[in-house]
Amino acid sequence: MNKLEVIPKNIVLIGFMGSGKSTVGRELHERLGYQLTDMDQLIEESMGKKITEIFKEEGEQAFRDFETLQLIEIAKQTDKRHIISTGGGIVVRAENRQLLKKLGYVVWLHAPEEVILERTSRNRDRPLLNTPNAAEKISQLLAVRTPWYQEAAHLKVDTAGLDSGEIATGILESARYHFSHPV
Ligand code: S3P
Repeated sequence: MNKLEVIPKNIVLIGFMGSGKSTVGRELHERLGYQLTDMDQLIEESMGKKITEIFKEEGEQAFRDFETLQLIEIAKQTDKRHIISTGGGIVVRAENRQLLKKLGYVVWLHAPEEVILERTSRNRDRPLLNTPNAAEKISQLLAVRTPWYQEAAHLKVDTAGLDSGEIATGILESARYHFSHPV
């Protein structure tokens, strides 16, 4: 087998809650036909519970353990290409940050804080933001996580003012360059 053929050509989307990972993931899936792997959905399916229930009944650390296990499982699937949409907290573990880069081209979707607040306030299925002051919680988490997104990503995309089609086009152009110049 040619060496280039064993390099995974997955595209991995990271970014804070409400940054558009799922929407952009679907757009990339439609354009490329790669399998769409939504990690939150996978975890809910394998646990048979909603994320809010996992956090409540098993705790955040157990959820983080499932996330790491999922990354390891996806990394084993080298027979097909994936668009991987991660949960916003995937970067909190150093182990995950390393695994992400091994999975493929890691794209950080960055959205302004007020956009995140507006989008995440539309539903209550994000346990970390079910607090009286979600705006403050978002600021705190962003301050801690921003350097980790930076560290884990090959590419940062500022999504402000762009629709999902425009974001996907930008990602595809950069990904093509990245995959044709493997390091
Ligand atoms: C989380 C983000 C969520 C989900 C869980 C924890 C986080 O995913 O994994 O609620 O720690 O930021 P989304 O980013 O898809 O909302």
